[in-house]
Amino acid sequence: MRPQLNLLVTLITLLHSWNYFPVTQADPQTRLINKGCSQYNATSLSNFNQNLNATLSDLKSQVGNENKHFATAQSAKGANPVYALFQCRNYLSNSDCAACFTVAAAQIRNCSAGSNGARVIYDGCFLRYTST
Ligand SMILES: *[C@@H]1O[C@H](CO)[C@@H](O)[C@H](O)[C@H]1NC(C)=O
Ligand SMILES: *[C@@H]1O[C@H](CO)[C@@H](O)[C@H](O)[C@H]1NC(C)=O
Ligand SMILES: *[C@@H]1O[C@H](CO)[C@@H](O)[C@H](O)[C@H]1NC(C)=O
Repeated sequence: MRPQLNLLVTLITLLHSWNYFPVTQADPQTRLINKGCSQYNATSLSNFNQNLNATLSDLKSQVGNENKHFATAQSAKGANPVYALFQCRNYLSNSDCAACFTVAAAQIRNCSAGSNGARVIYDGCFLRYTST
């Protein structure tokens, strides 16, 4: 190695050892803390599912594309409206927040079909919806 290059490598190694270049690792904090399902069912499953799908994809776009850490969405077509809310802890990176949303959105569909309200709470984020 040429002396200058040698010096540069030494300098970079030193800066690394001082944590001069912070390396942030992905951590969407998806440990499930709490979940709940309403025991009440939507009157029309297809209407309800349309509204639920619409609100979840609206939230997904706000979190994934607009990098929001707090988002609400509603779809109120027909007799079974859906109102949804999502929040990430503010210290999560945009990509961790989006990853937490993906996990939460999959989990929240785990209630019995048509359950008209649900919540899932993780270390890093929470998601809930209700029909009222
Ligand atoms: C809601 O539907 C589920 C099946 O999908 C059923 O087990 C449950 O009893 C229903 N709840 C009410 C309150 O009717
Ligand atoms: C809603 O989304 C789920 C999961 O992606 C899909 O299986 C279902 O067919 C959708 N329902 C409606 C009414 O769009
Ligand atoms: C839904 O619940 C089942 C049974 O508790 C579990 O095995 C599955 O992983 C859950 N699905 C999601 C997306 O978490």
